[in-house]
Amino acid sequence: MSWKARLSLLLSLALLATPVITGVQAGAANQLEIFSWWTAGGEADGLNAMFQIFKQRYPGTEIINATVAGGAGTNAKAVLKTRMQGGKPPDSFQVHGGEELTSTWVKTGFMEPITSLARSEGWLSVLPKDLVDIVSYQGEMYSVPVNVHRGNVLWYNKKIFDDNKLAAPTTWQEFFKVADALKAKGITPLALGDKNKWEAAHLFEDILAATLGPEGYRGLWSGKTSWAGAGVKQALENYAKILGYVNTDHAAGTWDSAAQMLIDGKAAMNIMGDWAAGYFTSKGWKPNVNYGFAPAPGTGGTFVVVTDTFGLPKKAPHRDQALNWLRVAGSKAGQEAFNPLKGSICARTDCDLSKFDAYLRSSAADFAKNKLIPSEVHGSAAPEDFATQFNDIVNLFVTRRNVANAQKALQAACVSAKMCRK
Ligand code: GAL
Repeated sequence: MSWKARLSLLLSLALLATPVITGVQAGAANQLEIFSWWTAGGEADGLNAMFQIFKQRYPGTEIINATVAGGAGTNAKAVLKTRMQGGKPPDSFQVHGGEELTSTWVKTGFMEPITSLARSEGWLSVLPKDLVDIVSYQGEMYSVPVNVHRGNVLWYNKKIFDDNKLAAPTTWQEFFKVADALKAKGITPLALGDKNKWEAAHLFEDILAATLGPEGYRGLWSGKTSWAGAGVKQALENYAKILGYVNTDHAAGTWDSAAQMLIDGKAAMNIMGDWAAGYFTSKGWKPNVNYGFAPAPGTGGTFVVVTDTFGLPKKAPHRDQALNWLRVAGSKAGQEAFNPLKGSICARTDCDLSKFDAYLRSSAADFAKNKLIPSEVHGSAAPEDFATQFNDIVNLFVTRRNVANAQKALQAACVSAKMCRK
């Protein structure tokens, strides 16, 4: 990026951040500022539902909904960094469990532990140990998981599939057959909107999980699977082929515009995390009626975990209100209000599943029995340094489709992020 492009990006981020920073009156006791990137259909509704629970429990507090638009925190994370480093944290902010929380904010000393709150609220007995582990560091818990999203889902327009007598592909080989049949009918097989880069990286993450299997995929983060090896090469080759089936204007779209293409009948399939289910719900689209769902090809039995959490920054301007917010985010009522609209299942294991639709009930069943693997694109598996490079490399690959160069760059990113030795 040229220095001019960088400068204009910084200026636009600063402009985006301005109302957020000035929206909170310093020292005003009855405020609570919650920072997130939840602005799209489904995610904004879910957040609002949790605000309603907060308002019932703690009336008289004004909630400042500090959102910075852009899926997966594309813009929000940069704004948050400026605020945190400038000593102006929000009262609480959305952060993915795993490296995004621990490497970016905990080890660097920006967060307060919330272990005693977790104990007094009884969270430790209702949250899966795996989730508690990824929001903990050196024996202290630093955030409360509010949900579990599944990253590896194939969504399809049911009418298009029924009209063409097609079944959801379970492998990439089947995908190519289905995609060819759709192409022959003049239908775009796969919707993609990768304007913000992470969307193309998300698709690649699911292809890596399919090609390497859950153990091989985990090895990418522990150093056991080489980025320079045959598996990653095969995943890139597969990705190049898959890109032959996406909409030509993908670089202008976003994750939600890609989901909208299914609703509009402009494409048959989409691979995206299940915030897409939240988006469909917000548009009145129903599972098994308007849309079908299946694990992303080749990932049956594997569940890519994405978890949104909230923590307590040091110097939170309204610390007491922030603690109350965490109480709501970790509560059964809060999670039961938030998740059916958000398109995720509760992080808690005691939610009433009758409040969730058929897709979410199936996700809950899979979460309980599948092999769980962490998402890299959504902050859990790798430190931010690698995640940023991964997005850039995959996006260059989408344009150039050069397998050897992409693989070399991935290996180099692994070394420079100190995940691999050489
Ligand atoms: C993810 C996040 C989800 C959803 C999605 C699209 O990173 O975990 O909650 O918001 O981005 O914005």
